[in-house]
Parts: sequence; structure tokens; C-alpha cells
Amino acid sequence: MFDASLLKDKVILITGGGTGLGRAMGERFLELGARLAITSRREEVLAKAASEMDGEVFYKSCDVRDPQQIADMVSAVEQHYGRIDVLINNAAGNFASPTENLSPRAVDAVLNIVLHGTFYTTLEVGKRWIEQGVSGTMLNIVTSYASTGSAFVVPSAAAKAGVLALTRSLAVEWARHGIRQVAIAPGLFPTDGAWSRLAPTPELSEKLLNRVPLRRVGEKDELANLAAYLISDYAGYINGEVVTIDGGEWLQGAGQFNDLLEVTNEQWIDLTDLSRKGKS
Ligand code: HXC
Ligand code: NAP
Repeated sequence: MFDASLLKDKVILITGGGTGLGRAMGERFLELGARLAITSRREEVLAKAASEMDGEVFYKSCDVRDPQQIADMVSAVEQHYGRIDVLINNAAGNFASPTENLSPRAVDAVLNIVLHGTFYTTLEVGKRWIEQGVSGTMLNIVTSYASTGSAFVVPSAAAKAGVLALTRSLAVEWARHGIRQVAIAPGLFPTDGAWSRLAPTPELSEKLLNRVPLRRVGEKDELANLAAYLISDYAGYINGEVVTIDGGEWLQGAGQFNDLLEVTNEQWIDLTDLSRKGKS
């Protein structure tokens, strides 16, 4: 679909780039000519990913909850590649729980990674771009429920909504510096990280799947291709936009009459008859 030089020589930094969707995006970006830097807390995971990926991959461990570690990591990437062109804020933490069971520390565990971590990383990279007078692109990975909210993952929903607000706010404020902001809102992509925490039983997994009009989960490559387009120069006029990639899932939850999908053809004959009679 893409020319193999779509991202040629772009230096792309991905937080949470050693696993799941972060790694899938990195692999695709390498195929399209990018030079990659990945970061997360676990150095051994990064080292393994870097050795298995096909292309130039620099890695440095960093906890995005700690601004000093972020500054050191960003300096190391700049030292290695000379610059950063694209930042992908992908690192996240999440788990499902009744909200009334959460301790303040449990709330912080998610907010500190997702909202503060994304904000700190954005600030560190953005300040450097502005000072250096260079342009760049930031892509934030949110969730479909960043816009709607969701029960049982409330710290994540609140944090991702904050990240979406950050995306839209800086799209305006930092455009004058040539910094573009975009976001992707994924639906269901069965990664080990997400599924072990959010759909740990086949029943839960099946329940989630039944919410998707296309009746399937997303392929990592589908998300990686969307990300590649959004960070490429072809998307240069897209700023502040969030693109949902969820097989129509959130819309199925939203439409008032969507549960009529359960009505069989036979039942529709009776229902149609009744509703026609209702006309008079
Ligand atoms: C209730 C929980 C809990 C749970 C942890 N806590 N898990 N409370 N239910 N399932 C509480 C702990 O009891 C503790 O509070 C506090 O949270 C901190 O716990 P730690 O284990 O010390 O946290 P930490 O080591 O910082 O780990 C953060 C984490 C962990 C978020 C809890 O899961 C993590 O590292 N996740 C990273 C990867 C990840 O989550 N990937 C999924 C992304 S998927 P107390 O008060 O007891 O001390 C995603 C979207 C998916 O984001 C959307 C759709 C499919
Ligand atoms: P994942 O593999 O668990 O990815 C999360 C990554 O974040 C891990 O690599 C983890 O690495 C890193 N991370 C966590 N805490 C960190 C911290 N404090 N500092 C630095 N890195 C940290 O799960 P995923 O499914 O690929 O999720 C990737 C992104 O997609 C997340 O933003 C998630 O919210 C979003 N998303 C996923 C889905 C889905 O269905 N999979 C749906 C909607 C949105 P370490 O543990 O080594 O730090």
C-alpha cells in the first residue's frame, strides 16, 4: 500500500515500543525506512525487541512517570540519531476494576503513566523542538472510550480523555512551531498486555468481541498502517484529529436502536406488521 520510502530517515521515538502495538508500529515504520528508538521500563524487553526487529533500533529504558528519566532518555536518543522527528506516546497502564474498590494508589498507577507520562514526554520533546526551531509530529495512542468514558476502567478513561484534550489543545498552540498533533483511538487489539489485564477469560473476550459490528478484533498491522500514514508527510494537513480504528464498536454502543441487531428476520416480519398498523 505504501511506498517503501514513506518514512525514509525519519527518527521515530516510541514509548512502550518493546511490546504489543508499540512494537508492531515500530516494525512497520522500519519497513518504511524509519530509524527507530524504543523505550519503556524493562530494559530486557527492549533489548530482546531491538534484537528481533529488522532495522536500526536504539533503545533506552525509562519510566515515563519520572521527568528526569525522560530527559535522560530523550538526550540519549538525540545523541544517537542527532534528532527526533516523531514522538509516539504509546506507553500505558490499565486494569479493570469496580471503581469503588480502587485505592488512591491504584488511581495514580494509571493516571501517572497515561496522563502524566504522556504530558511529561510531550513537554520534554516539544520544548526541545521549539528551542531547536525544528518541526515534528506527535502521535498519541488513546482509546475509543477516551471520548465516551467507560465503566470499570475509569482511571484509564479519565487519563485518555486528558490525553485527547492535550492533543487538541497543542494542535492549536504548537502549530506555529511546526508541531503537528494526531491521535489514534484503537478498539479491540488482543495484545498480551491488554488481554491479560482486561479480558483474562474466554468469556470476557467473547463478550467484548460481540460488541463489534465487524465481528472481529483488529489486526496490529491495520493500526500500524494507519499510524504510518498519520505521521507521514502525506498527512501534513491533519492536525488535532483523532482517528478511531475499532470496527465500528463505539458506534454500536451509542445508537439507541442498535440492540435491534438481535431481532431475527422472522421477528422483523411481525414487528414490521405492528409498526405499519401504528401508522394510522
Ligand atoms: C485493583 C489494582 C489492580 C487491579 C493494581 N492495583 N492492579 N487495584 N485492581 N487489577 C493497585 C495495587 O493494589 C496498588 O494499590 C496500586 O494499584 C499500584 O499497584 P502496582 O502493582 O504497584 O503498580 P505498578 O507496578 O505501578 O503497575 C502499574 C499497573 C500495571 C498499571 C498496575 O498493570 C502495569 O504496569 N501495566 C503496564 C501495561 C498495561 O497495563 N498494558 C495494558 C494497556 S491496555 P495499593 O493501594 O494496594 O498499594 C489499555 C487499553 C485497552 O490501556 C483498551 C481496550 C481493550
Ligand atoms: P502493552 O503491550 O501492555 O503496552 C504498554 C507498554 O507501555 C508496555 O511496553 C510497557 O512496557 C509500557 N509502559 C507501561 N508503563 C510504563 C512506564 N511507566 N514508563 C514507560 N513505559 C511504560 O499494551 P498494548 O495493548 O500494546 O497498548 C499500547 C497502547 O495502545 C496503549 O496506549 C493502550 O492504552 C492502547 N490501546 C490498546 C488497546 C488494545 O486493545 N490493545 C485498545 C485501546 C488502546 P514496560 O512494562 O516495560 O514499561
